[in-house]
Amino acid sequence: MDKDKVIALLNQDLEGEHGAIVQYLSHAYAMGEGEMACEIEAIAREEMRHLDWLAEAIVELGGTPSLKRGSMRTGGKGVVDWMKNNVLLEEDAMGPYREQIKLVDDPKAKRLLQRILADEESHHGDFAHFVEKAERERAVDVRGSRDDRVVQILNWGIEHEYTVILQYLFHSYMATDKEVKRQMEDQAINEMQHLGWLAEKLVGLSGSPRIEHTGVDQSTKKADMLRADIKIEREVAAEYDRASKEITEADVKSLLDRIRDQELYHIEVFSDLLK
Ligand SMILES: [Fe+2]
Ligand SMILES: [Fe+2]
Ligand SMILES: [Fe+2]
Repeated sequence: MDKDKVIALLNQDLEGEHGAIVQYLSHAYAMGEGEMACEIEAIAREEMRHLDWLAEAIVELGGTPSLKRGSMRTGGKGVVDWMKNNVLLEEDAMGPYREQIKLVDDPKAKRLLQRILADEESHHGDFAHFVEKAERERAVDVRGSRDDRVVQILNWGIEHEYTVILQYLFHSYMATDKEVKRQMEDQAINEMQHLGWLAEKLVGLSGSPRIEHTGVDQSTKKADMLRADIKIEREVAAEYDRASKEITEADVKSLLDRIRDQELYHIEVFSDLLK
């Protein structure tokens, strides 16, 4: 199989992992605090590692990692249905991985696919178990339908964080400078924390997180990446600052201030790298 074909297959897998991460995280957030939500989040983190490995492999083969999100199995009336959807999503992944392992002859890519498949088989078992557990424990969707300014601001924050997670990951994969790569990855992880904090706060306030993103900067030159990243950080720091002054709830205010301060830190880190 030629290199371009392998890159195309790995990119399809990458898109699938992206969809799985968002599907599982939205379930974990919607279930609030609790053991099962934590375990689902841990599975989402394993999918993030898959995404990372696939992206690195794609770049190593001379390709560009896709930013598209693969199809998700949304819908379902409650936690039991969601867990059934997750079982199906794992099956959606396992089939192609098994096929590709037969087709791909590049030993490194084959080994990677086998490694990922083993995880998906294990997730498949976990979710099958969660179907029963959710029935037994009567796990519920704890989201509410509150939709005021606070909820809108938190959802705006989630949209921003999701966008920069993708942007910094993309920049980290494409960067050739080791320090830029390391910092981009580090800050992407920090943005994942922000997304989690905002989503958990939102559900705690009886809102419903909307996990969508806006346009991602796809620069590949160091200076262009850093300029785009500094620009978006400046905008968002100003917006968090403005929003915090508008809001009266003390806990939301302090969360937004904490995130704003970390965005200000990102601006300094990126500006140093640009020097
Ligand atoms: Fe995966
Ligand atoms: Fe999985
Ligand atoms: Fe952030």
